Amino acid sequence: MAVGIFDSGLGGLTVLDKVQQKLPDQPFVYFADSANAPYGVRTADDIYDLTTAAVQRLFDAGCKLVILACNTASAAALRRMQEGWVPRDKRVLGVFVPLIEALTERQWGDNSPPREVAVKHVALFATPATVSSRAFQRELAFRAIGVDVEAQACGGVVDAIEEGDMILAEALVQSHVEALKRKMPKPDAAVLGCTHYPLMEAEFQAALGPDVQVYSQGNIVAASLADYLARRPEMAGEGGETRYLTTGDPRHVSARATQFLRRKITFEAA
Ligand code: DGL
Repeated sequence: MAVGIFDSGLGGLTVLDKVQQKLPDQPFVYFADSANAPYGVRTADDIYDLTTAAVQRLFDAGCKLVILACNTASAAALRRMQEGWVPRDKRVLGVFVPLIEALTERQWGDNSPPREVAVKHVALFATPATVSSRAFQRELAFRAIGVDVEAQACGGVVDAIEEGDMILAEALVQSHVEALKRKMPKPDAAVLGCTHYPLMEAEFQAALGPDVQVYSQGNIVAASLADYLARRPEMAGEGGETRYLTTGDPRHVSARATQFLRRKITFEAA
């Protein structure tokens, strides 16, 4: 049985890539809801409906555990799904908490009271829906005190990446970083709070400058998934093969995915 990895589009491949490096023998089913991307400009109800439909498809493909490799779905839909929708024998996990644990120097499941941490000024780059949910600030407040967060909603970046227009994506990254710096001139850390943004990580780092530590989720989520499966091996199951499903045009999505991961990726219709 494969582990499911979900994203609205191609961004979750940045997580899948790191997870596959960490767990080379583990099969995955990747689901890109390309026909409905981007999610970041949708309402929370809409994101919930689309995410539950996609995760159900991954359950139907044999997955018991699904990672929402999408911050927008993690922020806008995950809690509601966990509270009333996920069947008892299945698990759906997000990408937010592992990132915040890394930022606040915590081990998995450390639920001790919030404390002072090294980072003081954090820039959050995310989709409009993730920023307006304030889920990042809420999860951070459970774990850390005295951290100032300035969020920048990066409109247009996901669309540009999905279209493969990297020149537009780069220009948008620069203007969003400039907008953030007008609000917070000297962040000490920057969080790429959308799984599409690691595809532009060099551009974010260049615009932010070398003194800003940039956090992206791939390696952090890979380590956290490896740890989870070591504790709950029954959630990974056995057998199965890695598959890539999309609600979009498989040929178009395969070409972009192959370009981004620099290896052949073949999507099939979901
Ligand atoms: N990769 C998704 C995320 O992490 C992008 C959301 C979108 O489709 O706008 O938020």
